[in-house]
Amino acid sequence: MDVGKAIMTRRSIRDYQKKSVPDEVLVDILETARWAPSPVNSQPWRFIVIRDRETLAGIMAHAKYGSHLSDAPMALAVIATDVERFHWFNEIEENKYAAAVVADSIMLAAWEKGVGTGWVSVSRDDVRGILRVPDEYTVVAVITMGYPVTVEPHQDADRCPVNMMVFSEKFGERFPRIDKQWVEEHHR
Ligand SMILES: Cc1cc2nc3c(=O)[nH]c(=O)nc-3n(C[C@H](O)[C@H](O)[C@H](O)COP(=O)(O)O)c2cc1C
Repeated sequence: MDVGKAIMTRRSIRDYQKKSVPDEVLVDILETARWAPSPVNSQPWRFIVIRDRETLAGIMAHAKYGSHLSDAPMALAVIATDVERFHWFNEIEENKYAAAVVADSIMLAAWEKGVGTGWVSVSRDDVRGILRVPDEYTVVAVITMGYPVTVEPHQDADRCPVNMMVFSEKFGERFPRIDKQWVEEHHR
């Protein structure tokens, strides 16, 4: 599967088969995802594999939109640690954004291997306590993982058109090159 196809076909999965994701498959996914970029190549992330049902239910109690956690065969917590030595990156919270970047790589690498994922937003401090994550680190994402029951393809209407998202030079300034009328007027 090429990258574009993986990005465009991935769905958030909330309904999983009972079958668990073998450790070998999980390691394979993480072997791929760990090539994600990070500030000064610090790789400020750690992953916690969660299969224990009580832990999953405990996390669910701190997720407003995560009822599927109780049925998912497993979840992976993505923890932002510190960028060492270059502390300015932590001051501007790049460590957390880097963890979100690797989380996306995990979701795409999983998808390529037929494993579905779903990001679950959680109350970070509560979940940090459950997972015994040190106070100075952040639980950036909890991602359910497993084999999907069904996959509904995206509809075009699922995303805003690009011309609503992109500006030229300053926020709010229309990006002209994808404005057909502008192109016609200026490049006749
Ligand atoms: C930062 C972030 C937080 C999300 N939080 C939740 C969540 O708490 N519960 C949930 O079911 N889905 C959550 N999602 C998944 C979105 O609902 C989903 O990506 C969106 O509806 C688009 O659907 P798709 O991923 O299938 O394309 C989250 C996604 C992101 C990136």
